[in-house]
Amino acid sequence: MYEIDLDKIDLTGHPPDKEPERQYYFMAKCREYVQRLNEKWGHPPTYTTVTFGCQMNSKDSEKLSGILEIAGFIPSESEEATLVIYNTCTVRENANTKVYGRIGYLGSLKKKHPEMIIALCGCMMQEEQVVEKIKKSYPFVDIIFGTHNIFRLAELLYQRLLKKKRVIELWENTDQIVEELPSEIKYSFKAGVNIMFGCNNFCSYCIVPYVRGRERSRRMEDILDEVKRLTDQGIIEVMLLGQNVNSYGKTLQDPITFAKLLQQVEQIEKIKRIRFMTSHPKDLSDELIEVMKNSKKICRHLHLPVQSGSTRILQQMNRKYTKEDYLHLVERIRDAIPDISLTTDIIVGFPGETEQDFEETLDIVRRVCYDSAYTFLYSKRSGTPAAQLKEQIEPQIAKERFQRLLKVIQETSSERLKKLTGTIQQVLVEEQNTQQSGYLTGRLDNNLLVHFLGEKSLIGQLHNVKLTECKGFYYFGELNY
Ligand code: 5AD
Ligand code: SF4
Repeated sequence: MYEIDLDKIDLTGHPPDKEPERQYYFMAKCREYVQRLNEKWGHPPTYTTVTFGCQMNSKDSEKLSGILEIAGFIPSESEEATLVIYNTCTVRENANTKVYGRIGYLGSLKKKHPEMIIALCGCMMQEEQVVEKIKKSYPFVDIIFGTHNIFRLAELLYQRLLKKKRVIELWENTDQIVEELPSEIKYSFKAGVNIMFGCNNFCSYCIVPYVRGRERSRRMEDILDEVKRLTDQGIIEVMLLGQNVNSYGKTLQDPITFAKLLQQVEQIEKIKRIRFMTSHPKDLSDELIEVMKNSKKICRHLHLPVQSGSTRILQQMNRKYTKEDYLHLVERIRDAIPDISLTTDIIVGFPGETEQDFEETLDIVRRVCYDSAYTFLYSKRSGTPAAQLKEQIEPQIAKERFQRLLKVIQETSSERLKKLTGTIQQVLVEEQNTQQSGYLTGRLDNNLLVHFLGEKSLIGQLHNVKLTECKGFYYFGELNY
C-alpha cells in the first residue's frame, strides 16, 4: 500500500541505518536473489504464511506477505512452498501445542524439499523456553523472530539466503513503530489498521503484556494517513486494532482520546463503516459512548470482555472493575444506544473459582444478554501471576462449568438475535458462499453473517438485506432494493 520503487535503490553501497529505508534496501536485495532463483529453477519461489491467533497477528501477516511479494515471492496456499512462515499465538496453551505439532509436520516436508525455508515468528517466539525448545528439538527451523521486529523480515531473510545459517533475532521490547511497509490486504473492501501496540494492563492470567510489550500508540496523523490511503484502494470499512483501544493516545506526546480519533476517522468521506477491537471496560468513557451514539459510521457493536461475573475473581484477575461497575457500564451504553450489539470474552476455571463465583458469571451473562460470547477454559501461562496461584481448578470441574456456560449463552443470545428476524439491515457483502451456490455472505453492523441470493458483482458493496430466518449465530435473508 505504500508506494515503494525498489528500482531506485542503490544496492552497491552499504544498507542505510534509518528505517524503513533499510528494509527497502533489503527487499531489493531479496528481490535480486529471487530473480536468480527464478532463472535457475525456471519459476519464482513461493511463500505461505500461516496465522494463528488474533486480528493483530492477521494484520502482521499481511505485512509479512507484503514484504515477500514486493521481493518477488509468489503466494501459495500449500505448505510445500519455498518459504513457510508460521505467525504464532501463545495466549492459551493449546495454541502452542497446535504449533509444535505443525512444526514437526513442516520438518517432514523439508526432508522432501531441502531448499525449503521455515520461519517462525509472533507471540510464542517472545518466550525464552519456547525458543530453547525449538533450537533443541526442531533444528530444521531457519528463521526465528518475534513480535517487535516483524518489519525486519526482509533483512532477516536476506541473511538466511546469503549465509545458509539459522537466523534468530528477538527483541525484548521496543519503542519503534515502523509501519511504512508494503502490506498485502486480504480483502479489497475492508482492512485492519493498527492504532496501538502492546498492553499495560497485566491482567493476572494474560501473557500478552510480556510478549507484545508496553503500550505504544501510533500518531493520529499516521493512522489517518493510512486510512486515507486505504480508501484510495477501495477500502470502505476499517477495523481499528489494539489490545486496549480505549486507552489510545494516553502516552502520545500530545495526548488525545480514542473517541477523538474515531471522530477524525469518521471525517474521511470514503470510509463507510468503522469497527474497533478490543475495549477494556475500565477505560470505556462516556465520551466514547456519546461519539458512538451520534455516529453514522461507527458500527453499533462493542466487544467488551467481562472475563468473569464474580467481583472476587475479577479482583484476582486484576481487571480493575467489579460486577456492578460492569453492569452499570452496560446500562449506560444501552441507554444511549439501545440497539447496540454486545459481545464478550469469558474465562472459566480461573484459579480459586468456586461454584458461587461461577454462578455469578452465569448471572452476568443472563443479565447482559450478549449477542455472542467467546468462552475459554483458563490456561496456565508460565510467567504470569495467576500461574503462581495455588488453587488451580480440576479440569473436569472447569469443563463441566464450561458446558453449562455455553448453554446459558446459547439461550440468552438466541433470544436476542431472534428479535432481528424480519428487520432490514445494511450489510457489507463479503464473499460468495462456499456451501450454497448462488448465495452471498454479508456482515451486519453487529458483526453477524447473513446468507442471501445475489450476484457476485455485489461483493465489496453495502446493501440492504431483509433477515428472514435466524439460524443461531447467522441468518438467511433476501436482498431488499
Ligand atoms: N487462559 C484462558 N483465556 C485467556 N485469555 C487470555 N489469557 C487467557 C488464559 N491464560 C482470553 C481472554 C482474552 C482473550 C483474547 O483470551 O478472555 O480476552
Ligand atoms: Fe491481556 Fe488484559 Fe491486556 Fe487484554 S487487557 S491483552 S486480557 S493483559
